[in-house]
Amino acid sequence: MTQDEMKLAVARAALEYVVEGRIVGVGTGSTARMFIEALAGMKDRIAGAVASSEDTRQRLEGHGIKVFDLNEITDMPVYIDGADEITPEMHMIKGGGGALTREKIVAAVAGKFICIVDGTKVVDYLGRFPLPVEVIPMARAHVARELTRLGGTPVLREGFVTDNGNLILDVKGLKIVDPVDLETRINQIAGVVTNGLFALRPADVCLIGTPEGVQTMTAE
Ligand code: 5RP
Repeated sequence: MTQDEMKLAVARAALEYVVEGRIVGVGTGSTARMFIEALAGMKDRIAGAVASSEDTRQRLEGHGIKVFDLNEITDMPVYIDGADEITPEMHMIKGGGGALTREKIVAAVAGKFICIVDGTKVVDYLGRFPLPVEVIPMARAHVARELTRLGGTPVLREGFVTDNGNLILDVKGLKIVDPVDLETRINQIAGVVTNGLFALRPADVCLIGTPEGVQTMTAE
């Protein structure tokens, strides 16, 4: 089974978590794109969606799914999105696609975060995948120095601007012993918009695509 086949399997399995008649939060990335394709098949049974990126918004609208401004809604039962890494504690690194800030905002409003990944994304400890940090452009050098002081090696994502008009520093080499603490500390650096650690608000359910089928992981 290929990685794409495993992604497709979890994207389809995630439909089970979509609440009929309600608004669903939709993530960004290749697995989320497969979920959008699957969601299109039940578009008449949902009220609409909230998008975590411009790319996702365009894809949802392309399928005729109504996309709501997050400010218009107060209640959204589920958010469905991929991840770059996830641990058994349901802590994640996200932002490989650069949409981490809007993903974190939409996830904050959702009742449940359903993470959809292929089995290669499940790790015991976070950090092999470089940690994306969204930065206000004028703070790029300052934030890079502070991230270096934390033990990381920040690399500017060349030629990339986020949907919010900011830059991404991808940080290699961080020892992520306490994801909640590190998420908090990085967010306190002046000029950081947010970082790709999703530990303060971890996933509630993770659907994992494996050659043996879709497995379901919940917080231990
Ligand atoms: C985008 C993300 C994605 O969820 C993450 O990068 C995983 O992407 P993919 O499903 O393509 O492997 O956080 O900002």
